[in-house]
Amino acid sequence: MHSGTFLTQFILEEQRSIPNATGDFTGLLNDIVTACKTISHLVNRGGLIDILGTAGTENVQGEGQKKLDVISNEVMVKSLEWTGHLAAMASEEVEGIISIPNQYPKGKYLLLFDPLDGSSNIDVNISVGTIFSILRCPDGVPEPTEKDFLQPGTQQVCAGFCIYGPTTMMVLTTGHGVNGFTLDQDIGEFILTHPNMTIPKDTGEFAINMSNQRFWEAPVQRYIEECIQGKEGPRGKNFNMRWVASMVAEVYRILTRGGIFMYPWDSRDPSKPGRLRLMYEANPMSFIVEQAGGASSTSQQRILEVEPEGIHQRVPVILGSKNEVERVVAYHKEA
Ligand code: F6P
Repeated sequence: MHSGTFLTQFILEEQRSIPNATGDFTGLLNDIVTACKTISHLVNRGGLIDILGTAGTENVQGEGQKKLDVISNEVMVKSLEWTGHLAAMASEEVEGIISIPNQYPKGKYLLLFDPLDGSSNIDVNISVGTIFSILRCPDGVPEPTEKDFLQPGTQQVCAGFCIYGPTTMMVLTTGHGVNGFTLDQDIGEFILTHPNMTIPKDTGEFAINMSNQRFWEAPVQRYIEECIQGKEGPRGKNFNMRWVASMVAEVYRILTRGGIFMYPWDSRDPSKPGRLRLMYEANPMSFIVEQAGGASSTSQQRILEVEPEGIHQRVPVILGSKNEVERVVAYHKEA
């Protein structure tokens, strides 16, 4: 018998503490949990079924799609379109918004998701994940359009990610701290294993793709150079480096032991203001990181306050341990 709290129970208890809650949000989260369990199962089957490798297509960002990108997107859409909790969805893998088919009832929430983040890692058996962000559909909008999704991250009702790693874990915030749940494969339930996750304010670990160094701006060069100089440099302490190239894995590590993650602006392609997508990567991760006591910035402003211009918009991302993020932001101000 399990003595831990099931995710379903946890969500229901949160719902009971909110006067006039209708159960819609609880229902939506349960639908997302079901979809993530399905994706987890598929990711785990890997080479046993024909799902590894490229799909031979490109997504809206012009990136090659993996078979599992396409399948995970399909799982999310098919699990969520009929349940009556959503007014519309948006996915990294789909150019426009995804409407709810006419035969199904519409709900009051908007869902944005990256069905399989870090998917370049699938074929090499490294952690990947699903990231999602829930917004309220503006009042009196029966048929949402893209502009209804363009709300700053501060408006998120909930954000979360499911990481498919050595264990499958769901990490969630509804604005009251961050909780982590581990999937017990034997009973098919997520159990609360990491209550109140918090990020230490200081860190000795940074994550950045060093191969882009020659394209960074001066403040990022300065920060990383000072970390690399270690004990002998101005920071007076040694730093460690990690780069998984899977944002879910980096953010999970930071939630567990602190650290700073950066995908800053770089000069490779001046038309792109960053690599990561605001609405279904940077915003949900920033909400989680802030709720865990960390910070998140573009280097110029708090990510959660960026006014979105498009559902696939990109932004520079600097997030993690508060004092380090603030230091990088200060270096940009000084410059
Ligand atoms: O698309 C997002 C992503 O896969 C993140 O999960 C990861 O942090 C980043 O891109 C990796 O980028 P790169 O391949 O440039 O290191």
